Amino acid sequence: MKRNIILMGPPGAGKGTLAKQLISLGLVHISTGDMFREAIKAGTELGLLADSYIKHGNLVPDEVTIGIVKERLAMPDCENGFLLDGFPRTLPQAEALEKLTKEINRPIEAAINLDCDEKELVRRISGRRVCKNCGAPYHIDSAKPKVEGVCDICGGPLYQRNDDNEEALKVRLAHYVNQTKPLIDFYQERGLLTNFDSLKGSAVLFDEIAKFLKS
Ligand code: AP5
Repeated sequence: MKRNIILMGPPGAGKGTLAKQLISLGLVHISTGDMFREAIKAGTELGLLADSYIKHGNLVPDEVTIGIVKERLAMPDCENGFLLDGFPRTLPQAEALEKLTKEINRPIEAAINLDCDEKELVRRISGRRVCKNCGAPYHIDSAKPKVEGVCDICGGPLYQRNDDNEEALKVRLAHYVNQTKPLIDFYQERGLLTNFDSLKGSAVLFDEIAKFLKS
């Protein structure tokens, strides 16, 4: 089975949804967005700094983001394989990851890119609701919880992220196009990239990608 995976794609492509399904394969889910949101909730120094960038849709500086990923990947639970969701997002991050995974002898084995058109991204992001406790994603039309406003998994309250608004989304999409999309070529050149169509429903997508990772 392939381990040490990167999940790539624009905001709203379904990286978090897919990662939460793929942990059933025994891979650890590492989401830099979730790590920053936890720090914001805890009111730490990192949280205060991250919030000042995230709420406007901007990227947290590379040195900060690379630092937290470096610490996380060195933890023993990553030994059996990890899923990186939302990292790397810039060329310096991709280069740092390449160096780091060599040092710790946990090389990246696949970069999965989720394709999705912009109209659908806007629909997904504007209707997304997230559990305040466990981070599970929902959608007001296409992924409703059983009880409105309540997480099916942990019973926590659902909320709308403060960067899921039209203004911040424009900025996030621009950062994606200018800084993250070029990484598709970076991983293509290394023979690691595989594209998947995220317009397929999340159950079909999960089956396809789980099959690919097991092959
Ligand atoms: P992050 O949390 O990583 O946000 P993102 O990349 O913008 O991605 P999203 O979480 O918005 O979307 P997703 O692809 O996970 O989609 P989801 O599964 O939720 O980062 C947030 C911020 O933190 C960044 O803007 C930045 O400021 C900072 N940051 C994070 N990492 C950083 C880094 N490396 N460097 C610098 N800064 C960083 O799905 C979305 C919706 O669609 C849901 O409602 C879901 O139900 C629905 N859906 C999902 N899949 C499907 C499907 N297949 N079919 C139909 N609907 C679907």
